[in-house]
Amino acid sequence: MTLLELEQSRRILQERCDGERTQLERNRLGQFSTPFDLAVAAVRESLRYLGNDSPVHFLDPAFGTGAFYSALRQECDGRVASAHGFEIDSHYGAPSMQLWRNTALDLRIADFIRADRKSISANLLICNPPYVRHHHLNANDKAYLRQTMSQLGFQVSGLAGLYCYFMLLAHECLAPGAVSAWLVPSEFMDVNYGDVLKQYLLERVSLLRVHRFDPNEVQFTDALVSSAVVWFRNAKPRPEDEATFSFGGSIDRSARQTKRTLSTLALEPKWTRLAEPVAPMLVHNPRVALGDIFSIKRGIATGDNGFFIVSEQQAQELGFSRQFLRPILPSPRYLRAEEIHADKDGMPMIDKKLFLIDCRVDEEELSRRDPALFKYLKAGESSVANGYICRSRSPWYSQELRPPSPFLCTYMGRAGSETQQTFRFFHNHSAATAANVYLLLYPHPGLRNAIESPGVAERLFDLLRRIPIEKMTGEGRVYGGGLHKLEPRELANVPMDGIKDVLPCLTLKSAQMHFAYAGTAENAAALAS
Ligand SMILES: C[S@@+](CC[C@H](N)C(=O)[O-])C[C@H]1O[C@@H](n2cnc3c(N)ncnc32)[C@H](O)[C@@H]1O
Repeated sequence: MTLLELEQSRRILQERCDGERTQLERNRLGQFSTPFDLAVAAVRESLRYLGNDSPVHFLDPAFGTGAFYSALRQECDGRVASAHGFEIDSHYGAPSMQLWRNTALDLRIADFIRADRKSISANLLICNPPYVRHHHLNANDKAYLRQTMSQLGFQVSGLAGLYCYFMLLAHECLAPGAVSAWLVPSEFMDVNYGDVLKQYLLERVSLLRVHRFDPNEVQFTDALVSSAVVWFRNAKPRPEDEATFSFGGSIDRSARQTKRTLSTLALEPKWTRLAEPVAPMLVHNPRVALGDIFSIKRGIATGDNGFFIVSEQQAQELGFSRQFLRPILPSPRYLRAEEIHADKDGMPMIDKKLFLIDCRVDEEELSRRDPALFKYLKAGESSVANGYICRSRSPWYSQELRPPSPFLCTYMGRAGSETQQTFRFFHNHSAATAANVYLLLYPHPGLRNAIESPGVAERLFDLLRRIPIEKMTGEGRVYGGGLHKLEPRELANVPMDGIKDVLPCLTLKSAQMHFAYAGTAENAAALAS
């Protein structure tokens, strides 16, 4: 049979199998096949990411009749060196085995979540996992999944659907550098239970692209979900790497797209809005607050600064390698200047150079990669690890993700001193993160572009420093002895008068301020005039 004839037979088989099942039965196991043209587009984009002409070792953990396998063979038949599939339901699995019997495919009629996944090493995984909602998972499966996930270091919400577990479990089947593509409901990008997937996509693998289909052009006429395809590579993520977010149209011709660095995605709570257009509508908002232009986060609560923060000299004496050390700013009292310059490696050029131990790998891997640090952390196991903060982290010595921010503000200060300001702002050019004695100000997307233009960041910083102190203390809280504190939400309420002089072009979209920013400050000014 030719590849085209095989695809025709597969389609007939799919229709027959679907026709013999009720809608209820298909819902129970998430049996909604991928339209073939979508499967082809997903395969093409995946092969583009895989690059070169090396042999393909393919896996589809929710095989059905094999829409992706068929598409793969049409796209690069000669390259397919091995192929694995799992299908829990023999109603689809048995005739599919028969259909693909003369090919490289090893199709197992088995439950992927309980399968021996480690025996597979795929460099290309494409999957449309079953969309089974959490309340349809049986108690046995739920208990098994809860235990397996915690062993793998994931904390999955009880509200997560089966597709979340599929994506996380399939990690064990990925060869280093493998490309993986998942057709999933787009809701994971916005809801709480999706956090674990976003964390996985940002911390364990390298996110490449998310394409969200326009919900008005439903992809699966019979399942009615708004879906997205997520591509990633099984490689260590680098914060400066960019992922593409596209929306609408098709995979190869999206209606809109934008790029975001991985470090800024960590700060973006709702990914679905990323490829949304910014309305080119000018509004004359009389009052812009800091929270309209910055996402404000408290610095890292390390769990024990004395243990997790080490000086440059200590790090050297203890023999730590640099791979798990991140520069971190010292307490503001050690910073004489408000402008923090950096050397060529991003180290802050200040007297007191400190590092935060920031390690997310498990003990076994750590002992191989940095034996000196492993020994050091081991010594804290019976004390530091039992502290309130460390207890709730996995591994206990991992730290919150706080990329360096261009602007910072002190978290607390005393009023009334002639020589000292109550709150101090800093302009940070270095790669240093900060502990919770600081608030970190991360610019919203439009502003982020704008401050790359010459002079804009400096003018913005000047504006921050000129905010009258009573405007800041008025939003915060005061403790005995005149100690003032500002929580992130309180700093977000502080008005930022004069912002329109620095960046004259503001738009209002979805009740949130963005800058309609067209590349340079000059363009922004032109747009406003
Ligand atoms: C959304 S369909 C996708 C089918 C096919 N790959 C496609 O794209 O057209 C999901 C498939 O996964 C199967 N499935 C459901 N739970 C499974 C499990 N635990 N292990 C393996 N397959 C499963 C279903 O029977 C169904 O055929």
